[in-house]
Amino acid sequence: MRQFTTGDPMFSSIEQSGNIAIVKTNFAWGDDLARIIGIVERHFDDFNGNGFYPHPDEEALQQELLQVDKLRNFSQQLGQRKLRGLAITGLGLGGLSEAHRNAVLYAIALTQGFPTSTDQRTKRVAWDIRARAGVQSKFVTFSERTGNADMHTDSSFYPMPEEQFMLYVVASARCNGGESLLIDVEDIVAELCKSPEGSAAYRLLREAQVPFRVPSVYAADDEHVELFFAPVFHNEGRAMRWRYDSIEKGLAARPDLATPALVAALRLLNDVIEQRAPRFVRQLPDDTLLWADNHRTLHGRAMYTDPGRHLIRIRISSTPNAHRVGPSGVAAD
Ligand SMILES: [Fe+2]
Repeated sequence: MRQFTTGDPMFSSIEQSGNIAIVKTNFAWGDDLARIIGIVERHFDDFNGNGFYPHPDEEALQQELLQVDKLRNFSQQLGQRKLRGLAITGLGLGGLSEAHRNAVLYAIALTQGFPTSTDQRTKRVAWDIRARAGVQSKFVTFSERTGNADMHTDSSFYPMPEEQFMLYVVASARCNGGESLLIDVEDIVAELCKSPEGSAAYRLLREAQVPFRVPSVYAADDEHVELFFAPVFHNEGRAMRWRYDSIEKGLAARPDLATPALVAALRLLNDVIEQRAPRFVRQLPDDTLLWADNHRTLHGRAMYTDPGRHLIRIRISSTPNAHRVGPSGVAAD
């Protein structure tokens, strides 16, 4: 970890490791917080259970929000950084009501792109990540149970995985554990290509159309097998779609595609991801915003047991919702 201080007016005390950094805010929102909330309130009849929805006039709302000085500066400093993951501690939303806090998070997300609905039924954009009481079965998604989450990209089984996502820490796990994990795809490729087998796997996984099974808990019909085909590495090998359990289930549904070479390449890559590639591991404190690139990093979380852990997630597409293809993501991941 390198430590240094930046000249940024809004952020300080940077720790940076590769393309992932942690900063502390050194500004106060002041009156601009009320301005942001006021603009969002004027555009929404109700907050949709505090989760919002993609606003039908999101491009105009985005422009209006960018007139607020602190939000525009914040957005520019986030956007200018050539980072793939950035944790911003002391965001300054800890004292707000749930509705107002989520209004500001929606506004921040909208300055970076177009927040997508995470839940196809309610269209909610801001999604609570916390254990649901009494729910711990294998059919429950990563976001609704305690425990760990394997490294993955979000929306990997859909045509247009969102380019970015944000997580806001309302309450971190009070017991040890629940650390947020991020791995840079560049580090995965470097580790993978250390061996000839790994280099061959990398070549294969840039070409092969791999079946991702849309998890049955999210698909409309539990009996129906829905598959999405895509290479694991895309964008000239610099970006990934990854959700190993979804690929394993996809290959189980299409055994004709499960060639020994493909199965071995996927296993090797999974081993590199879960065991070998260097990773960002951090217990993020309350009131931290974690922003990450969903194409060029994988994320996950370490084991935890505290059911009080509570995060808010918003996924952000570079394409306005009106022009997106396919579902906009799921509550899972
Ligand atoms: Fe996820």
